[in-house]
Amino acid sequence: NRTIRLAVIPGDGIGPEVVAEGIKVLRAALRDSDVTLDETHFDLGAARWHRTGEVLPDAELEQIKSHDAILLGAVGDPSMPSGVLERGLLLKLRFDLDHYINLRPSKHYRGVPTPLADPGDIDFVVIREGTEGLYAGNGGAVRVDTPHEIATEVSINTAYGVERVVRYAFELATQRDNRLTLVHKHNVLVNAGHLWRRTVERVGAEYPGVTTDYLHVDAATIFLVTDPARFDVIVTDNLFGDILTDEAGAITGGIGLAASGNINPTGAYPSMFEPVHGSAPDIAGQQKADPIATISSVALLLDHLGLADEAKRIAAAVDADMEERADAAEAGMPLIRSTAEVGDAVGARI
Ligand code: NAD
Ligand code: IPM
Ligand code: MN
Repeated sequence: NRTIRLAVIPGDGIGPEVVAEGIKVLRAALRDSDVTLDETHFDLGAARWHRTGEVLPDAELEQIKSHDAILLGAVGDPSMPSGVLERGLLLKLRFDLDHYINLRPSKHYRGVPTPLADPGDIDFVVIREGTEGLYAGNGGAVRVDTPHEIATEVSINTAYGVERVVRYAFELATQRDNRLTLVHKHNVLVNAGHLWRRTVERVGAEYPGVTTDYLHVDAATIFLVTDPARFDVIVTDNLFGDILTDEAGAITGGIGLAASGNINPTGAYPSMFEPVHGSAPDIAGQQKADPIATISSVALLLDHLGLADEAKRIAAAVDADMEERADAAEAGMPLIRSTAEVGDAVGARI
């Protein structure tokens, strides 16, 4: 018998709607197992901030740390100054829990509408560095709101930080199709870019079976649209990875399907699983959000906790739901379902 202590942060906008479906499916996946789910819900996000002015009090951060994993919906709300929750809650968790791997798989399911005329076989994983780069918060502004303002954001790239994410990406490539693409911009970002390139070369020498490739980020955005099947594992820094994974979501049929894990592979702290998308204020509270991104994030969570069979059952149920969508669309009767109806349908398939 085993208990999973899960910290749940539904957050803002569509966050609570999609998290409810993620948990519904998680419970279904664990129903016939000897695993018990012990959830703690944390009231964090815009509503809490408006009520109390708090973003993430230390005591709650400590409580969160004592869990086995975290499921997060989304944070950010137009009623708040931009950045308060994004930095103070989401990035604070990623940084303080040392989530140096941001794992973002992309797969195109048959029949799912994509803007690409010929998507080919899209199945790749972006390994985005999660704790450094331009996200480090290393910058400042002087003479703010004057014609002489100077604003800086300095990208931090440490040999330690780059090596650990590159190593993880090589390991992952060996479990997949043995192809690794580094995406950066070393023709301009000559300091960080060369550190990344040298690290890939050096670590790559230990993985002779893995073919490595390099693309400048601007070219990478082209190939994601013209030939996405060329990618297997992409490793990149924090900001490039953020941008590429929204693009990856778009080419595979929409951001509502894209899952992610913020992983600390050492197990020193709980890892955090969340959809790639945000709080989608434009559709919040209307049961219009697709919960598949969150449900697939729950599968990543189970995999991370060593519950591979349960994870596979969720992945299979998602596959089946995608098949049903494709069949209905082909028959000229596309499925129109609420967020909860999709969660019910996936749960029922488990
Ligand atoms: P967004 O991802 O929230 O929305 C972009 C577009 O995608 C919108 O049109 C939205 O309706 C659509 N969309 C998103 N999720 C969907 C789903 N599950 N099903 C169907 N459609 C979906 O990005 P944004 O508009 O740039 O940001 C909104 C807020 O969310 C901001 O405050 C931003 O900072 C925050 N944000 C949070 C996270 C996070 O918590 N991880 C991620 C991205 C953005
Ligand atoms: C994401 C989001 C976040 C990021 C924001 C909300 C801080 O866009 O998870 O992709 O930039 O990492
Ligand atoms: Mn993003």
